Amino acid sequence: MPFEYVTPNRFSLFQRIWYSIFPATYDGKASRQGYRHFFNSLLLHFRPKVVPRRTLKFTLTWGLGGMAVVLVGMLFVTGLMLKFAYQPIPDQSYASIVHLQDTVLFGRLIRNIHHWSGNALLLVVFLHFLRIFFTGAFHPPRQFNWVLGLVMFILVLGSNFTGYLLPWDQLAFWAITICTGMLEYIPGIGGGLQKMISGGNEIGPATLSNFFAVHTAVIPAGLIILMPFHFWRVRKSKGLVIPRSPLEDPADRGEPVATIPNLIARELAVAAALIAVIMVVSVLFNAPLEAKANPGLSPNPTKAPWYFAGLQELLLHFHPLFAVLIIPLVMVVALFTLPYIRYDADTAGVWFASLRGRRTAIVAVVVGFAITPPAIIADEFLIDFAAWIPGVPAVISNGLLPATLALIGIIGFYVLMKTYYVATNNEAIQAVFVLLLIAFIILTITCIWFRGSGMALTWPG
Ligand code: HEM
Ligand code: HEM
Repeated sequence: MPFEYVTPNRFSLFQRIWYSIFPATYDGKASRQGYRHFFNSLLLHFRPKVVPRRTLKFTLTWGLGGMAVVLVGMLFVTGLMLKFAYQPIPDQSYASIVHLQDTVLFGRLIRNIHHWSGNALLLVVFLHFLRIFFTGAFHPPRQFNWVLGLVMFILVLGSNFTGYLLPWDQLAFWAITICTGMLEYIPGIGGGLQKMISGGNEIGPATLSNFFAVHTAVIPAGLIILMPFHFWRVRKSKGLVIPRSPLEDPADRGEPVATIPNLIARELAVAAALIAVIMVVSVLFNAPLEAKANPGLSPNPTKAPWYFAGLQELLLHFHPLFAVLIIPLVMVVALFTLPYIRYDADTAGVWFASLRGRRTAIVAVVVGFAITPPAIIADEFLIDFAAWIPGVPAVISNGLLPATLALIGIIGFYVLMKTYYVATNNEAIQAVFVLLLIAFIILTITCIWFRGSGMALTWPG
């Protein structure tokens, strides 16, 4: 029976309101079918009706993309709740957080959920990025989704960074001071950039209000726009990559299964488990809050937030121009161009590209572990290019020279992969990626745990 626009009086008030909003759910008879249809089509908005069964395998995605979505959702909800209590003014922000924690019902819990979700999101997005890379999911037709993903990665980093300042305690104030101070080394625009971000010459009320606006409006708006774009690109690429063994035919997509309930049930299970973990962590561990920010008293050592610790460690080994600008810029440009390089093979769906790719990746892990810690220790205690070649500007002795040596090492490693291991360029590029990844992780760990007073190398404990 076609839908009647005049809603019959026999319906209850609730039903009349409901049908006025969702007329399609009314089919004149029992409306269960209509409800089901309505919710299913809502769920299927960003999903196809069927998906290849093979893409449901947990070891393809590890649920990471879905977890990122859930965490962003939790951050938006708890972030909006925090806004009711938080005051973005230096003299009041710290007090507003203390008030939130001590007097507002569930205030501490909401803050903890926001804190742990923000940190978990960074980790989850990083792991998602690794899964995309190691399953070759950046190859055509998914190149642009890789680019969108990287932009979202930067937004998530920016979100964590701007959020870090908001509590206005000693930890926040000095970590942000260290990070914005790094910008000074960018030639030409560094000083201006630093002033723009800080809203003046030092971290103060203007910085807090800038960070608050970026944190609670600019970045959330960016994510709200880019996330649907990201999912739409997944659909336009005919769904996820099909996981396969190196010898399997890439054209074989396997049998399709209905998205509801097969995919949805799995997504709900991952979401429920993740929310449970975040809740338990948020009940057990409080978000840090040190003494109120004191611009006259810097803690020793002063460390950047953990996700910028690798960069801070790099600063101890290279001239700032290289540590803060050239090396990170080269890495970021390389990541953005990665899907546009010409490859020997389309390895989409094969973990670590091939059987040889697995071997070369392991070699890269071993080389990374064998080289990075000794290099850090040697640079701390033995190597001093500035003293060995006096009269040369520091940007050459501490910048260009060690950076060139590192570059020669990386090129040498690539050539070794190509010649000794007869790797394809997919495999050799992957090996270089793994080498740099391990070096980055070791630099980060060193800064977080092995740097003490005056940023000297120390044994933790
Ligand atoms: C990707 C999204 C987001 C991330 C990664 C994120 C991350 C963070 C982090 C790490 C903090 C510092 C928490 C602490 O240790 O004290 C913070 C604080 C804060 N965030 Fe967010 N956030 C996000 C979205 C939002 C949104 C959408 C809002 C509001 C519209 C918001 C409002 C706040 C407020 C008011 C604070 C200060 C309260 C506090 O520090 O406890 N956040 N955020
Ligand atoms: C806030 C950050 C992000 C969110 C919410 C997000 C979400 C998702 C979701 C839900 C999927 C489908 C399921 C899955 O693969 O797990 C996906 C796929 C994808 N993501 Fe992300 N993602 C984010 C960041 C990134 C990053 C950093 C990259 C890479 C640089 C990336 C690249 C991709 C690609 C290429 C696909 C398609 C994978 C395939 O076809 O197998 N995403 N993303």
